[in-house]
Amino acid sequence: MTRLYVHEVVTRDGFQIEPRFIPTADKIALIDRLSETGLHKIEVTSFVSPKAVPALADAEAVMAGIKRNPAVKYVALVANPKGAERALAAKVDEIVLVISVSESHNRSNVRRSTEESFAGFVEIMHTLEGTGMAVACGMATTFGCPFEGFQPLDRILKFVDRLVGLGVDSIALADTIGMGDPRQILDVCNEVQARFPSYEFALHLHNTRGMGLANVLSGLQAGITHYESSLGGLGGCPFAPGATGNICTEDLVHMLHQMGHDTGVDLDKLIAASRGLPALVGHEVPGQVMKAGKSTDLHPLPAGL
Ligand code: COA
Ligand code: ZN
Repeated sequence: MTRLYVHEVVTRDGFQIEPRFIPTADKIALIDRLSETGLHKIEVTSFVSPKAVPALADAEAVMAGIKRNPAVKYVALVANPKGAERALAAKVDEIVLVISVSESHNRSNVRRSTEESFAGFVEIMHTLEGTGMAVACGMATTFGCPFEGFQPLDRILKFVDRLVGLGVDSIALADTIGMGDPRQILDVCNEVQARFPSYEFALHLHNTRGMGLANVLSGLQAGITHYESSLGGLGGCPFAPGATGNICTEDLVHMLHQMGHDTGVDLDKLIAASRGLPALVGHEVPGQVMKAGKSTDLHPLPAGL
């Protein structure tokens, strides 16, 4: 079976929407724990305005405090040139740019038009020239926008084309508020891969309407090998009405392993880390395997049967 890659986003997408500030030391301890689970990438934080996202105002301190496992890529989200400078200074392994396919979500999220975002990206790519820094981009609202609805395929393809042209190394097609259905995900993934063969695409999925893991199956069918997910199924964009959790990392890995795929991830360690989340965030989390256990965790037959 194909080797698949899991990108963990809990301390970024997960914590950005938590009403309670997660102490810096707890963020660092969780990342250090996740660093030992075999995950390919960990999205540590965002270098955005602390006024916009107060939950991640400690980005520098978190990056400086973590123990870096050389097998893991530590990445951070960036929305403007100032964020890129901060991420560069914090020595992330990769900068993750963010732009929304829909004009209105881009305005809601980063307070500028998509053209202004692209202009900022040109500036960022100039700043990064010669630094060797890897650059990814998350294309928010690819599969639907809370203000404008579904986005036309030609607009999605135009965005991909511009990002590839800018020299971005990989693109995560993001279903910011879980509007995508398995058929749409399959069609869009097939189209972008047909137009940009051998380019690295990831799927960034949310389970807002219960279609998250079904959408992963469509990704697999289209040949996508990189998936972004959040421990315990935490997550959501604070600037998209109705946003809820990402697909849950341990539920994703559990399904993939049961289907015979290789992720390189130690599922037991992930589940153990996820079981620590409710105490950390102060509420139940959506993850299912952390509650039910793995399919292979059998129970003793009740006495007398
Ligand atoms: N890091 C820290 N501070 C930043 C910053 C960054 N990357 N970018 C801007 N700021 C500060 C400016 O210094 C300025 O501070 P001041 O008020 O003390 O002078 C203030 O933020 C406003 O700057 P401006 O450039 O006018 O930004 P804005 O108000 O138009 O907001 C963003 C634009 C992108 C900074 C803001 O919308 C943002 O950070 N959004 C976060 C998006 C996000 O993380 N979404 C969730 C993930 S998809
Ligand atoms: Zn997200």
